[in-house]
Amino acid sequence: MLVVKEISELKSHIAKLKEGGKTVGFVPTMGALHCGHLSLVAEAGRQTDFVVVSIFVNPTQFNDPKDLEKYPRNLDRDLALLEPTACQLVFAPEADTIYPEPDTRNFDFGQLETVMEGRFRPGHFNGVAQVVSKLFYLVEPDKAFFGLKDFQQLVIIKAMVKQLTLPVEIVPCPIVREADGLAMSSRNQRLSPEQRKNAARIYKTLTEAGNMAANLSVEELKRQVVEQIDANPYLKTEYFEIVDDETLSPVKQWSDPVNKVACIAVFCGEVRLIDNLVFNIN
Ligand code: PAJ
Repeated sequence: MLVVKEISELKSHIAKLKEGGKTVGFVPTMGALHCGHLSLVAEAGRQTDFVVVSIFVNPTQFNDPKDLEKYPRNLDRDLALLEPTACQLVFAPEADTIYPEPDTRNFDFGQLETVMEGRFRPGHFNGVAQVVSKLFYLVEPDKAFFGLKDFQQLVIIKAMVKQLTLPVEIVPCPIVREADGLAMSSRNQRLSPEQRKNAARIYKTLTEAGNMAANLSVEELKRQVVEQIDANPYLKTEYFEIVDDETLSPVKQWSDPVNKVACIAVFCGEVRLIDNLVFNIN
């Protein structure tokens, strides 16, 4: 497994691969790797000839400076986790390699970036689009693998690829969960043991909501979910929305002829956790 920090070195490896007719699979990450990330690497290994993983904590997507400062970083541990996987090249640049000068590009994703995460983390998706577009230009992947855990991010990346007409296929990968259902996240490391135990309530509430949805109106269900989560002293809901999986428009009634995804953001102490679940209801 090669570990590369410089763009020139990355580009010469990619050029050789392309010359040899190899397909490149790409998994962008911010490090602090867990089994969720590794599942994307495994899928990339199944679908492409050569797997590149990037590890870069992208400053432009953090709207909260405290969150950026506290984001867990441990490159040696990440490299040890990647060593036995399908990953063949790790791109781990410094911030000024990716941003030799400030990125002034402003993307416009319309409604996709004004709801849910976009509403509560202004500028977040612009930063994500800035870094992922740059990484795509550098790595030139045939396929890039993204987790459904960050559902809205996945929808935005697909929109960005369309807007920029980039020749990359975006492959969605399922959410990997802990044994008690909590979606794996780099931020879980920051939870105290008590918070960690109570955080499992988020996914339990989502699955219970999915099961009883048909008996309640959309509005009533949303109200009950927030009430239930907030009844737990360790948890505070930031938003709970049920949206059309393509436009991210809020679902008004169950009969709306769209695929429905229930998306939630919850504070567990200072740690902000997100999760989602497809609701199969018509
Ligand atoms: P990061 O949070 O490190 O996530 C990297 C990728 O792993 C994303 O596609 C994310 O959806 C996926 N992932 C995280 N937890 C997962 C889980 N439990 N199951 C399945 N997949 C999971 O998302 C980012 O980094 C950044 O925004 C990035 C795209 C790298 C741009 O900076």
